[in-house]
Amino acid sequence: MKFPINEIISLLDDRLALNLAESTNKDLILEEIWDESFKQGLKKLKLEYGTSQGDEKLRALVGKKLKVAKEHIVITNGAAFANFLAMLCSCEIGDEVLTVQPNFPPTMDLIEGLGFKRKLLKLSFEEKYQLSEDALFKIISKKTKLILLVTPLNPSGTTLSREKVEKISTRLNKEYPECRLLIDETYREATYGNNKVIPTFAGFKNNIITVSSVSKSHGTPGLRVGWLYSSDDNFIKEVTTVKINTVISNSVLDEYVASQVLKNETKILQIRRIHVAKGLELTKEWVERNGNFINWIEPAAGALCCIKLRETKFSQKEIEEFYALSKQAGIQIANGEWFGETKRFFRLGFGYMKIEKLGTTLEKLTEILKKTAASQPIKLSHNK
Ligand SMILES: Cc1ncc(COP(=O)(O)O)c(C=O)c1O
Repeated sequence: MKFPINEIISLLDDRLALNLAESTNKDLILEEIWDESFKQGLKKLKLEYGTSQGDEKLRALVGKKLKVAKEHIVITNGAAFANFLAMLCSCEIGDEVLTVQPNFPPTMDLIEGLGFKRKLLKLSFEEKYQLSEDALFKIISKKTKLILLVTPLNPSGTTLSREKVEKISTRLNKEYPECRLLIDETYREATYGNNKVIPTFAGFKNNIITVSSVSKSHGTPGLRVGWLYSSDDNFIKEVTTVKINTVISNSVLDEYVASQVLKNETKILQIRRIHVAKGLELTKEWVERNGNFINWIEPAAGALCCIKLRETKFSQKEIEEFYALSKQAGIQIANGEWFGETKRFFRLGFGYMKIEKLGTTLEKLTEILKKTAASQPIKLSHNK
């Protein structure tokens, strides 16, 4: 088996009623974009093959939003397939891909699955999952052909500054000109309320590739539509060639609906940003109220954050009980181990459920924290 089994698969196949594990904003129901022009377009849609690079109108909509030419965009089967294509087209067998840990599990597993050498840069909760440029350049080598950074990061919602990305890109150009820098910005537009949307890294520097999708911020992961951007015409050609040799094209139905989503995105995003801001506020209050048991890093964007079960209250035994009781109560929790963290951490998604349900589910989790935490403080030296 080329890919290890990761329990994140339970998010698709074993859904529990109270879902605190999901990373997307609230699901979009077709009704939201169901108007006369949508229906007419759908009625007349020819179910032929799509084009290899992806529907031109959809690429133009993505290009407009990123302020780049549509010729530099390839439509993909989600950001997941964009990462696959970027990796496959940047590396030969024997080359290395460097990325961060914790991370979206398929991103980490894809590297070895494709036969490349994996280098992981461990980021830590204690350092707010911030990346050190020096630590990155300590582990890079002449064989590293792709560095894949994620901002906002899954599972923490923490971000990379523009200054840091600029420094890394400039240094790569100078010291490792054959190495591309891939920025996975899948959660970029999933901001809160009226917060400023994080600018894209597309078009920022020539050695930067970006990937994203309509999965998270727009609440349409079932469309399986994402994109890859590169300023390099040859790279775009290569990516398109691999795409036609693997999946031929995207589904024209998905592309049509994604175009309608993007045409209506001001409204779609606004609804979700207001919703997720309320979810974040509830979560913040909940974390503060339960400060004895847990700690967190406040996320900058994305409907997700990392929660830590405190060492003074949870040893391995209490941690196992916490997960077991949560499951028993029908609460789905994204275990930190899925992302390359330990079980002491879990990802909490606060943008998926209705606000009222999020509130009652968090209260149930409070009861579980109280029930499973050690009654006496745990001595730290023995129970890390
Ligand atoms: C960082 C990151 N990249 C990519 C993906 C894949 O998203 P999709 O293929 O639905 O666009 C995910 C999904 O969770 C993710 O968290």
